[in-house]
Amino acid sequence: MECTVTLSTGQRMPVVGLGTWKSAAGQVQQAVLSALDCGYRHVDCAAAYGNEQEVGGALAQRVGPGKELRREEVFVTSKLWNTKHHPEDVEAACRSSLAQLGLSYLDLYLVHWPMAFQRGEELMPRRADGTVCYSDTHYLETWRAMEALVDQGLVRAIGLSNFSARQMDDVIAAARHRPAVNQVECHPYLSQASLLSHCRSVGVCMTAYSPLGSGDRPWASADEPRMLDDPKLGAIAEKYQKTAAQVVLRWQVQRGVVCVPKSVTPSRILQNLQVCDFSLSEEDMRQVEALDRGERYIVPAVERDGQRVWRDAE
Ligand code: A2P
Repeated sequence: MECTVTLSTGQRMPVVGLGTWKSAAGQVQQAVLSALDCGYRHVDCAAAYGNEQEVGGALAQRVGPGKELRREEVFVTSKLWNTKHHPEDVEAACRSSLAQLGLSYLDLYLVHWPMAFQRGEELMPRRADGTVCYSDTHYLETWRAMEALVDQGLVRAIGLSNFSARQMDDVIAAARHRPAVNQVECHPYLSQASLLSHCRSVGVCMTAYSPLGSGDRPWASADEPRMLDDPKLGAIAEKYQKTAAQVVLRWQVQRGVVCVPKSVTPSRILQNLQVCDFSLSEEDMRQVEALDRGERYIVPAVERDGQRVWRDAE
């Protein structure tokens, strides 16, 4: 099976990329080096992860003139943070990610969330009571500024993250440069079947973040059952002599969904890439699909004391 997908722009995007959310600054550089050395050609980044400089440190060691890899061989994604949605802030935010990553262009730049926060340098602008300060910049205004980045050659493609089908349609209807990707939380417990079918029908590639169930999200409770320990996944994994993680990633790849599993462990980084040398039977594809229970782990805003507050590390 082909291990890249072709985006609406004609670019080829590897079906597995290294996720870098939650990778500590002290670990992410080594993780990216391990990934590039074992064959990854796709790295998923974001300004909000606070570690783009370390990712850039790894890219500088392996990519560019005189290095193992040419820039065109590696697909790098970054994301515009919520405080930078105002059209006047978009280009500077993109240039800042480029500078941190040490690149002259991004392969893909995503609007990280559909909602905008108050402008400024604070990642989570909050009032004294802890509630987040939103701003009324609409994502269609932001999109026009994203399109200008394509025109300027700073990014090869632009896309969305955490957008619903309706919000995607809004953008597509107004777009000069269509969104190439919508990156959303997706795993067997949240299969996103209806969003996926919508993405297919409008020619947008769906990318799954937290494809392994994000067991290391900061608000996970220590005693909650882990998706990767699901006995049904274990039984399928045993049948194919693969791990549960590989089954989950293979299921995504086989339904056309690109995955960005995060790991800072070299053996797991390698394991997560090895999903193109086997296929799941139709019955096993259905078995994994049937695990869906609408369980969303990445719920950014939560209710606290009757207020909706943006959740970060709790
Ligand atoms: P680590 O980074 O310590 O290797 P997600 O991509 O869904 O956010 O999941 C990331 C979590 O899954 C991290 O805790 C990561 O641990 C762990 N992980 C990554 N790859 C594997 C794997 N192949 N098997 C088990 N756990 C994994």
